[in-house]
Amino acid sequence: MATDAGNPIPRFPAGFLWGVSTSAHQIEGAVEEREPSVWDAFTDGPGRVKDGSTAAVACDHYHRYREDVALLAGLGVDAYRFSISWPRVRSTGGLDFYDRLVDELCAAGVRPVPTLFHWDLPLGMDWLERDTAARFAEYVSVVADRLGDRVQKWITINEPAEHTLLGHALGAHAPGKQLLFDALPAAHHQLLAHGLAVQALRASGAGDIGIANSHGPTWPASQEQADVEAADFYDLLLNRLFADPVLRGEYPEGIGELMPGDVAADLKVIGEPLDFYGINFYAPTRVGAPLGADIEFGGLTIPAELPFSVREIEDVPVTGFGWPVVPEALTELLTGFRERYGDRLPPVVITENGCSYEGIHDRARIAYLDGHIRALHHAVEAGVDVRGYFVWSLMDNFEWAEGYAQRFGLVHVDFRTQKRTPKDSYGWYRELLRAQR
Ligand code: NOJ
Repeated sequence: MATDAGNPIPRFPAGFLWGVSTSAHQIEGAVEEREPSVWDAFTDGPGRVKDGSTAAVACDHYHRYREDVALLAGLGVDAYRFSISWPRVRSTGGLDFYDRLVDELCAAGVRPVPTLFHWDLPLGMDWLERDTAARFAEYVSVVADRLGDRVQKWITINEPAEHTLLGHALGAHAPGKQLLFDALPAAHHQLLAHGLAVQALRASGAGDIGIANSHGPTWPASQEQADVEAADFYDLLLNRLFADPVLRGEYPEGIGELMPGDVAADLKVIGEPLDFYGINFYAPTRVGAPLGADIEFGGLTIPAELPFSVREIEDVPVTGFGWPVVPEALTELLTGFRERYGDRLPPVVITENGCSYEGIHDRARIAYLDGHIRALHHAVEAGVDVRGYFVWSLMDNFEWAEGYAQRFGLVHVDFRTQKRTPKDSYGWYRELLRAQR
């Protein structure tokens, strides 16, 4: 990979927010001390998680949060993006944990940036039901009333695209449904939940509000019409379907008709103005016409009946997960967003970016982050208003259907002993943050 290693990373605008991200289900553990989520039920089933593991203990962050906040302070980040477990908030004393965590962060000089939903839906609830959106807004009000005096930045929901695709269309994630296109109502209800949460947060006087959507450029496998159309359809499903309603208050062509309920009225709620737009970026995707057979890709099976196929991006390095490393795609993504959404695009925050690799001397991770932060700076130079960047993740954790096999952390976790060991990338990021001050 081409990096400018040696040249310092250029300065980002004053007030730029540097951080790291995690999510509740992936790090907290302490499942006995909260109500169950759809993920607990899913991982209990055989063959769902590659290494047969569960998140019952994970990083035991619930009991070790003080040590983890000390790692954040040592890293020198401005902000920490974590998620609040809805099942935990429903349990007696559950909100007390987040109260303590927020206090600990504030005392360490690290700004708390909570995400209100990161895939761990309380067991028994279902995104195919409209009522889940209303119940989400009620829960959000309770959390905002309790933490709003110390939390200045909120994220409503995380990657509804992946939660819909992997959880409801393909069944690789909880709740394990394989509905293909019948999964679309789960997307609509999450987007509605986002809009209702924005209203609830505004009503409670919250500060800045955003969403964390996953996006990436989609590249056609060739200029043949069939490939171009397949790539455009993939882009519609994974990018425009989730950004258009939030940023333009409308669904892309042909999608609104497939959604349940009074879609026009819902879109007014979904399109509530935001203070920032969070983007999780990992890699671009090469897409071509269907190949008439199931495809194994990045740990997923893409069924033959889908009207596209995902192809390899050749001649680029790949991460431990096999994901292509293409930093320039981040610049392309952001300039493309600026073009498509114009003034409707609020300031952007990169709410996740990172990679899985083995080892504590993780030069490949440093190269990945270096390349992507430079690519982000190119987008800033091209006029995109970017206000923050969060590395996924602070520490190795439960990587969903991959279990503990894919390690995304700046800090290594020994899952037998719970020992945390900062990797080389932790020191590298710390020095970057120092230089940016
Ligand atoms: C995005 C998800 O939000 C996060 O939970 C996951 O661990 C990373 N991608 C890496 O796959």
